[in-house]
Amino acid sequence: MAFRIPIYDSASTVAPVRSALEQAMLRVMDAGQFILGAEVEQFEHEVAEYLGVRHAIGVNSGTDALVIALRASGVTTGQVVATPAFSFFATPEAIASVGAQIDFVDINEATFTMDHTTLFDDRLGAGRAVVPVHLYGRPALTAMQVAQLRQQGAVVVEDCAQSFGARYPVSTGGGDTGQATSTSPRTGAAATAAAYSFFPTKNLGGMGDGGLVTTDDDQVAEMARALRVHGSRRKYHHEQFGYNSRLDSLQAAILRVKLPHVDEWNALRRVAGHRYADLLADCDGLVLPEITAEHVVHQFTVRVARGHRDRVQQVLAGEGIQSVVYYPVALDQQPVFGGPGAGLPRSDRASQEVLSLPMWPGISAQVQAEVASAVRSALRAARGPDGG
Ligand SMILES: Cc1ncc(COP(=O)(O)O)c(C=O)c1O
Repeated sequence: MAFRIPIYDSASTVAPVRSALEQAMLRVMDAGQFILGAEVEQFEHEVAEYLGVRHAIGVNSGTDALVIALRASGVTTGQVVATPAFSFFATPEAIASVGAQIDFVDINEATFTMDHTTLFDDRLGAGRAVVPVHLYGRPALTAMQVAQLRQQGAVVVEDCAQSFGARYPVSTGGGDTGQATSTSPRTGAAATAAAYSFFPTKNLGGMGDGGLVTTDDDQVAEMARALRVHGSRRKYHHEQFGYNSRLDSLQAAILRVKLPHVDEWNALRRVAGHRYADLLADCDGLVLPEITAEHVVHQFTVRVARGHRDRVQQVLAGEGIQSVVYYPVALDQQPVFGGPGAGLPRSDRASQEVLSLPMWPGISAQVQAEVASAVRSALRAARGPDGG
């Protein structure tokens, strides 16, 4: 179904840099090197500098980045890994694929990210690992909390697929006023390793699949570089099984053009987030996300209360407005993880209430006003004449 107002407009990060993108693609075509090579090395250098880390390793996707980051960090069979029950499936899938045992943690109602208060109990003794997810672009932990977890002996692999460019806040938690300062490190920088996705709709998106592993640890970096090329450190010599997971030169060239614009694009997303918050203020039956200074608003996700979410989505679709449910089933409830079962209450509730509205850098005030007005009438329609 074609929507009049899509959830994301890919032109928003293409049109402003179109001729630079064309030149970059032609440069790759003329150079004739299509996998890894100089273009990827230069991107890795530039993105490492931007993210404030020593090593950046380009891989095939965000999912592969998670798998490779986990394995390179030493996470292995039987190890217990805490991760939120509310994220994209790739997060626990990657943990399961390295043979580790998942300990699903509930989320914080206000932030949609992992309830960090549960991380500092017995759950996370030495030898454990944690994979926080900066869901919808909101950082899940402060740099200090990541450092504390690591001091307790935990391996921390941050899933930064939705938070490219975000900085750690000074504090986190429901309803607090944690503010990022321009000198805070970027999310992922304090972790043992971090994983990024360059899926086209991400805050830094390519024109195909792509991902990145980052780390400050030389050994983790060396292992990640080996794992992406069939586990080999020396060509045709293999001490372990790895993957065919290389970033291609065309993606690297495209990402190099877009990288210098990400901060500006993230700022535009934040402006749009605040505008939605104004337009939808005091809307009965709607809970709005808090747009903190460090939020990069990958998604603008509201909660629609009292079981009206699906009806609201339907009404919006009837108006030609796309909205998406990220994600309709909590991860521990997925059949592959043994669900459905008792569940974690806040993750379950989120899966029934969340609705993401159209969001991209530079979405116009007029489009947002149209969306907001349609949301208000959809809520009225969903509640029916008696306001139920
Ligand atoms: C939170 C999260 N983790 C991991 C991934 C996996 O990234 P990719 O689609 O590039 O494999 C995604 C993106 O879809 C994501 O949103």
